[in-house]
Amino acid sequence: MKVVKPDYNSDKSKKQQVEEMFDNVAARYDFLNRFLSLRIDTIWRKKAIAHLKTLKPSLVLDVATGTADLALEINKQLHPSKIVGLDLSEQMLAVGRVKVENAKLSGKITLVKGDSENLTFDDNYFDAVTVSFGVRNFENLDKGLSEINRVLRAGGKLVVLEFSNPKSFPFKQIFGFYFQFILPTISRLVNKNSGNAYKYLPESVKYFPEGQEFAKHLQNCGFSNIIVQPLTFGTCTIYVAQK
Ligand SMILES: C[S@@+](CC[C@H](N)C(=O)[O-])C[C@H]1O[C@@H](n2cnc3c(N)ncnc32)[C@H](O)[C@@H]1O
Repeated sequence: MKVVKPDYNSDKSKKQQVEEMFDNVAARYDFLNRFLSLRIDTIWRKKAIAHLKTLKPSLVLDVATGTADLALEINKQLHPSKIVGLDLSEQMLAVGRVKVENAKLSGKITLVKGDSENLTFDDNYFDAVTVSFGVRNFENLDKGLSEINRVLRAGGKLVVLEFSNPKSFPFKQIFGFYFQFILPTISRLVNKNSGNAYKYLPESVKYFPEGQEFAKHLQNCGFSNIIVQPLTFGTCTIYVAQK
């Protein structure tokens, strides 16, 4: 698996670079997300969380929570007793904390700085774990997935939402053009500090394992009963896996 980093000329690890990159885009992240995805991301998030409805989880961990969009949607749809959102980027979390406070949910949603590859929670602690648009950014994918498996209780579920590459004409071509040219240009115009963020995005999606290949990583890290659900012509995929 090719290691895709925001900046190949830097000596810093992928993890450090990813943290800095998201610290830099945090203030504009929500706006760009909604604008560049034409709000389709909100539909994808709802669909992903719907997979956890029958489980009725009480304790949920949202890994790579960013600005807490998924954590807030989890609260709306699943009404768990507690949600922990974890992220490397303090600036993304700061934006998320304001949203959580505005929604008067500070008692229920806690946002903490942390690394998915070194989780500080006990074994078998959470009923469910979610990751939206995060796994692609892990420095060591299998270490992150194994850590998630460790903190999940037996029978608990992991839901992953991640970009994928459409395979059929004309979606493959439209998606390629949009991701390679339109998205980096608009994001540079809107956010002069975005740096390599939107150049990194298409490359990281292109080389990331998807479909059955990603399912194999889940299996190797201890998960079973894996569901692979492509969305919007394969632009994005939901993965559901059980411990
Ligand atoms: C594209 S954002 C997604 C944020 C949010 N989940 C969403 O759906 O909008 C990716 C996030 O993953 C975080 N991230 C990347 N690697 C991580 C790691 N090893 N541990 C925790 N967070 C990580 C980044 O800091 C960033 O906030």
